[in-house]
Amino acid sequence: MAQNIGYSKKVMDHFFNPRNVGEIKNPDGYGKVGNPVCGDIMEMYISVKDDHITDIKFKTFGCGSAIATSSMVTEMAKDLHVDEALKITRNDVASELDGLPPQKMHCSNLAAGALHEAIKDYQQKKKNK
Ligand code: FES
Repeated sequence: MAQNIGYSKKVMDHFFNPRNVGEIKNPDGYGKVGNPVCGDIMEMYISVKDDHITDIKFKTFGCGSAIATSSMVTEMAKDLHVDEALKITRNDVASELDGLPPQKMHCSNLAAGALHEAIKDYQQKKKNK
């Protein structure tokens, strides 16, 4: 069972009821990252207004921890200024979830990484406008 390796209640909740799953058509920012440790993939979509994240969705071919961390990161990033959202680290996500088992910490790279890529994509597009 998943709990045996020490998942918190919050991780289990976000795994079984992930928030903000899906994609945004014509997003203002899009990020995709792969996890070199396991080969799993994460995609993140953001809508931005006045530099604030108004909507955010994710899709993943990842494990339960990847799902839980991305669900959590979407909740943390929503309504934030993009500069603030860029500061969210994998450790922030893990602590919001009351911790991840050490052997699953690498999974949280995907969530924070894809968010950062989506914001960078938004910033790049804004510069090119
Ligand atoms: Fe691949 Fe968790 S095992 S993201």
